Amino acid sequence: MADYPVYLDNHATTRVDPRVVDAMVPYFSTHYGNAASINHAFGWEAERAVTAAREQLASVLGVAAKTLIFTSGATESNNIAIKGVLDAAPPGGHLITNAAEHRAVLDPAKRLQRAGVNVTILPVDEFGRVDPQQVADAIRPETALVSVMAANNEVGTLNPIVEIGTMCQERDVLFHCDAVQAIGRIAFPVGELPIDLLSMSAHKINGPKGIGTLYVRRRSPRIRIQPLFDGGGHENHLRSGTLPVPLIVGFGECCRLAAECRDDEGARIVGLRERLWQGLCDRLDGLHLNGHPDDRLPGNLNLSFEGVDGDALMTGLKRIAVSSGSACTSALPEPSHVLRAMGISDALTRASLRFGIGRFNTDDDIEVAIKEVATMVKRLRGS
Ligand SMILES: Cc1ncc(COP(=O)(O)O)c(C=O)c1O
Repeated sequence: MADYPVYLDNHATTRVDPRVVDAMVPYFSTHYGNAASINHAFGWEAERAVTAAREQLASVLGVAAKTLIFTSGATESNNIAIKGVLDAAPPGGHLITNAAEHRAVLDPAKRLQRAGVNVTILPVDEFGRVDPQQVADAIRPETALVSVMAANNEVGTLNPIVEIGTMCQERDVLFHCDAVQAIGRIAFPVGELPIDLLSMSAHKINGPKGIGTLYVRRRSPRIRIQPLFDGGGHENHLRSGTLPVPLIVGFGECCRLAAECRDDEGARIVGLRERLWQGLCDRLDGLHLNGHPDDRLPGNLNLSFEGVDGDALMTGLKRIAVSSGSACTSALPEPSHVLRAMGISDALTRASLRFGIGRFNTDDDIEVAIKEVATMVKRLRGS
C-alpha cells in the first residue's frame, strides 16, 4: 500500500505538474528580481517573465493581456470584483448572486449586505443550476453586478453562462463569473463570452497555490472598480503589491499545459469517472448522483449513500482522499450549503462524498476507490 492515500480531491486543489515546478525554479534562485525594478537586469528579467506569463494566460483565455490582473487567487479576485464594483457604483447599488456559489462569493456578498447594499440571492434548481430567466427578473435599474459561477465546485454542474451573460448585457448590467473550476477543464473561450469580470486560480489546474487572476473586460465606458488595497499601484492600480514572479511563471506554464492537454485529458478523465460510477453502482444500491447528470465537469462525481453516517464513512476511508458533504469549502464542518440549496435532505447531504479526478489519476486509483468505498458503505450498513 502507498504511504499516502490515493488523491481524489482535485476540486480542492491539484498536484503541481513537475513541468510547472521546473519552469518556476529559476525565478526563485537565479532570476529573483522585482518586476518593478526598472534600473537593472534582475528587474528586466522578472518583468519579461511576467509579461510572457500574462501573454500565455491571455492566449489561453482568448483575451488581451492587459485585461488580466494578477491576484493571490480566486478568493481575492471575487472580493475585488464584487466589493470593488459595488463600492464604485452609485449609492443604493444592487447585487445579484445565487445560493450555490462558493463562500468566496457569498461571504463578500453578505458583508456588503451588512453594510447596507441590496443583495438578491437567487435559488438554484435540483442540479444546482441558476435559471437565466430568474436572473433577468431580479435585475432592477440599480443592479450593479450579477455574479454566477461557471461550474460548481461541489457537484460539478455547469451554469448556462452564455444565456445569463447575454441577459445582463442586454440590460447593461455587469456580469462576473467565478470560473475557477471550469477553466482548463472544459472549453471556456472567455474573450468570446458575454462576461465582464472573471476569476480564476492556478492551483486548480496543476499550478501553484497563491496566484490567480481577475479578468476585467475593456469596454466603453470602462468598468469602474475600487481596489481593495492601496499601495504601489501595481496591476493597473487594481492590486498593489510586489508581483510573485515564480508563481506567475508557474501560472502561465500550467495554463499552457492545460490548453495543450485539455481535450485528451478531459476524455480520459470522463472515462475514469464513468468507471468509478459504474463500479460503485455494480456493488452498491441506494446511491444518489448529486448535480447534473450530463452538464457537469469531467472529473466530478458527487454521490450520496443512503443509510450511511457521513462522518463514519469519512473516518473509515483510509486509502482515498476525498471530500465530504460537510466541510466542503471551509474549515467549518457544516453541511454543504450547495446540496441544501439543491433541496437534498440533511441525511443525504451528510452522507455525501465528492470525488475529484485529475491529471495524475490512473485506472488503479479508481479501482482502489471502488473497493474502498463499497467495502466501507457495506460495513456501515451492516450488509
Ligand atoms: C468555485 C470556487 N471559487 C473560489 C475558490 C477559491 O479559490 P482560491 O483558493 O484560489 O482562493 C474555490 C476554491 O475552492 C472554488 O472552488
